[in-house]
Amino acid sequence: MIPSILPTYSRAPLSFETGAGSWLTATDGRRFLDLGAGIAVNALGHAHPALVEALTEQAGKIWHLSNLYDIPQQQRLADLLVEHTFADTCFFTNSGTEACELAVKMARRYHYAKGPDRPRILTFDGCFHGRSSAAIAASGAPKMVEGFGPLLPGFTRLPWGDHEALRAAAAEPDVGAILVEPVQGEGGIRPLPDACLKGLRDLCDEHGLLLILDEVQCGMGRTGRLFAHEWAGIAPDIMMIAKGIGGGFPLGAVVATEEAAAPMTAGTHGSTYGGNPLACAVGARVMEIVSDPAFLDEVNRKAGLLRQRLEGLVAAHPQVFEEVRGAGLMLGLKCRVPNAEVVKAGYDAEILTVAAADNVLRLLPPLTITDDEIAEATARLDRAAAALAGSAA
Ligand SMILES: Cc1ncc(COP(=O)(O)O)c(C=O)c1O
Repeated sequence: MIPSILPTYSRAPLSFETGAGSWLTATDGRRFLDLGAGIAVNALGHAHPALVEALTEQAGKIWHLSNLYDIPQQQRLADLLVEHTFADTCFFTNSGTEACELAVKMARRYHYAKGPDRPRILTFDGCFHGRSSAAIAASGAPKMVEGFGPLLPGFTRLPWGDHEALRAAAAEPDVGAILVEPVQGEGGIRPLPDACLKGLRDLCDEHGLLLILDEVQCGMGRTGRLFAHEWAGIAPDIMMIAKGIGGGFPLGAVVATEEAAAPMTAGTHGSTYGGNPLACAVGARVMEIVSDPAFLDEVNRKAGLLRQRLEGLVAAHPQVFEEVRGAGLMLGLKCRVPNAEVVKAGYDAEILTVAAADNVLRLLPPLTITDDEIAEATARLDRAAAALAGSAA
């Protein structure tokens, strides 16, 4: 019999009751160190006092307002995003997938308005942009698209790192945009080198293409800058944000330059819940905290510490781990044993991690993780790896 929850996830037999900072307490009382953070959502950990305050204060006033009216909390968050990024304007969504939908629409509308029509969008192997019909078409991964056709047309997926194929595709007359994650998350924590991101910007400028960055997973301080592309010293035309910006409350956004966004006039897009006052009250508080340079300095310092410890872990367990990869607090351990087994051994050691493609174990701790928790996390991962190495011997 089909379960009452549609079984599209294979879930671990774990259930949690409360969360505080980097810790989750299970219903059986066990305390887990959370290095998954809801897959990069709980950027400030669980139950951060400032977010609890922002949410409860707003909950006592107004929960929901239609976008038919001005929403001051939305305005505040939009102003913060415009102040701290390349963008001139933003539209709020409830998820990363919805941000992808709008980013695609915006890019197509831009060329439609400017002429000639250039609807095709270039994407890359291993990319992940969500689960809507547009987002799965953008990714093209067989396991995501099988049985869901006909797919939204107009995407060409290129091999990762094939500069010649990219150059040729970008010159095609119907190509209007490039969509890319500065650090692939689901694809296995694969950072795009700064030089490549710069190269993509140059290619877009050369051919009049829009550069769309998906910073749903790698943005909001995750790599040690507010947004990952800042490391490369470039700016996109359109950027997708979600996950960390709501700190656990469903919230996403598309931010864009005035030029790219100008054709999105009244009636061209909408959302009942996007920009909801509860979400934006929390989002504004997250932005205030994460955009503080002192906060980002700490992320970088702790990222260095975690990376160093993980390098030690790889050296200590060469039969389990191959290498550390990633940027900031978006780190991956490439595994020599199946990554799902390492995730499972982590459960026994009371540490939560997330599997990614390319047999990578993802570590996406809250950005507020402490030095002691980093030491504890390494000790628990060491225990998990030792158990696996023991069972393999
Ligand atoms: C890079 C990236 N883009 C888009 C999405 C889709 O976001 P959501 O699950 O909020 O729809 C995700 C989710 O994992 C993601 O990692």
